[in-house]
Amino acid sequence: MKIGIFDSGLGGLITMRGIVGRLPEYDYVYLGDTKRVPYGNRSQQTIYEFTEAAVRFLFERDCGLVIIACNTASTEALRRIQQEFLPKFLADRRVLGIIIPTVETAIERGSRRLGVIGTPATVRSGVYPRELRKLRPDIEVLQVATPLLAPMIENGGAKWLEPILADYLKPLLEKNIDTLVLGCTHYPIAKEMIRSIAGPGIQVICQDELAPGKLEAYIRRHPEIEARLSKKGDKTFFATDITETLRSLAASWFGRNADLRQAELHLAVAAPGTKGTGETFA
Ligand code: DGL
Repeated sequence: MKIGIFDSGLGGLITMRGIVGRLPEYDYVYLGDTKRVPYGNRSQQTIYEFTEAAVRFLFERDCGLVIIACNTASTEALRRIQQEFLPKFLADRRVLGIIIPTVETAIERGSRRLGVIGTPATVRSGVYPRELRKLRPDIEVLQVATPLLAPMIENGGAKWLEPILADYLKPLLEKNIDTLVLGCTHYPIAKEMIRSIAGPGIQVICQDELAPGKLEAYIRRHPEIEARLSKKGDKTFFATDITETLRSLAASWFGRNADLRQAELHLAVAAPGTKGTGETFA
């Protein structure tokens, strides 16, 4: 049984790089839905349908533990996958999201006045303020939707990000935040630029840095899952569109011979007159 890592595009590769660096012994399957990225401006139902198809794809490739690295998919689809999809079809598999580990990290670091940047869907959902206040009711959370960042990074435009980032971050920096959460898989790819715009007084929380430790702790707490994970150090990378940016990032982080493969995702067909999903899952 392998560990699956899903993202709407290539941003999750940086999360995977961090995880593999810390836990190299396991077998991993990456899936990036590069054909349909960005997810962040789509409706909740669409994000759910895309995410469910991705999770089924990873289950069919022997992933017993799937990490939804994408904040947008974690926000809009994870709960329904855990509560409706898994119990119905594959109760022995686990699907984990990225929001709670990020929130826990911010609280552990003592953040009081926090800025969050993310996709329109993540910001609109209010998931970060809600989950942060559950753990620390007096925390101040300011959010800014940053819809241009992921498409620019996805299309190899990271070098043109600086003025756009500075503009997006301005209202947060003016409010004297002490912490900035990068609430999207893609943003750590520009983390040096973001850290330099934010300045030394602001801690920047990056999911590629926190996810490895959180996953390791989860695996330690669940020896029954650990025992079923295969340990050959294999890595396979699936994408719905093998773009040049994906190819070059995978090569620079995982080597020229990184095993890149084409993925076809099939949306579950709803029965006529219902909004249900999953009917075609064997
Ligand atoms: N990967 C998504 C996230 O972490 C952002 C990109 C998108 O809009 O699909 O939120």
